[in-house]
Amino acid sequence: MPEILPSILSADFARLYDSVAPLEAAGCRMLHVDVMDGHFVPNITIGPPVVASLRKASQALLDVHLMIENPDLYIPAFAKAGADLISVHQEACVHLDRTIQLIRAEGARPGVVLNPGTPVSTLDDVLHLVDFVLIMSVNPGFGGQKFIPNALNKVRQLVQKRTERQLQFVIEIDGGVTLENVETVTKAGVEWMVAGSAVFNTVNPAHTFQEMTRLANAAVQIQA
Ligand code: DX5
Ligand code: ZN
Repeated sequence: MPEILPSILSADFARLYDSVAPLEAAGCRMLHVDVMDGHFVPNITIGPPVVASLRKASQALLDVHLMIENPDLYIPAFAKAGADLISVHQEACVHLDRTIQLIRAEGARPGVVLNPGTPVSTLDDVLHLVDFVLIMSVNPGFGGQKFIPNALNKVRQLVQKRTERQLQFVIEIDGGVTLENVETVTKAGVEWMVAGSAVFNTVNPAHTFQEMTRLANAAVQIQA
């Protein structure tokens, strides 16, 4: 079944768990945590201490999206802080195969991320190593940007490669997912949908989360 992953980037950091608790009560099982270093992307967010605090407060799986240079230096700290899933950008990894192995060795599930300008073919030699592939549908750095439609072509290419090669990785998308496009995104083959501003910048984020989940589930059933 599809999952909506609220991105805490759009939550109120001063009241972080208070913002997340109603979502968990509404059935949210996965939270997306955006880590930015001010070098790989032009913004700075949070580090392992916040992940550790969230880990203590929340039951949800923590999906930690590293938008940082030299991710190998910080993967052990994020794993120890309680990250369940850790994804790294193809564009940030000189030794991508080694980095994926490091994430697994540290006890987290590894994923690899592609920026909008990076082709799917660059992952051909690592697809069998990852638990999930994250397609960026905005240029990373900020919440609240507009969905880049070409991301869905990349999703379709991944679905085809997964079938042809009989692989198991999950397909995730991040950026500009809203109530309006969640069905289209699901129908393209996405299983995990990150949503930041579309969830948190509404009057009732828990209700919006449930509505997005309902639309995604309905889109899968129509397809089946
Ligand atoms: C962007 C981040 C996203 C962001 C998505 O660099 O990786 O996770 O929070 O925000 P929305 O859903 O508002 O586009
Ligand atoms: Zn993200």
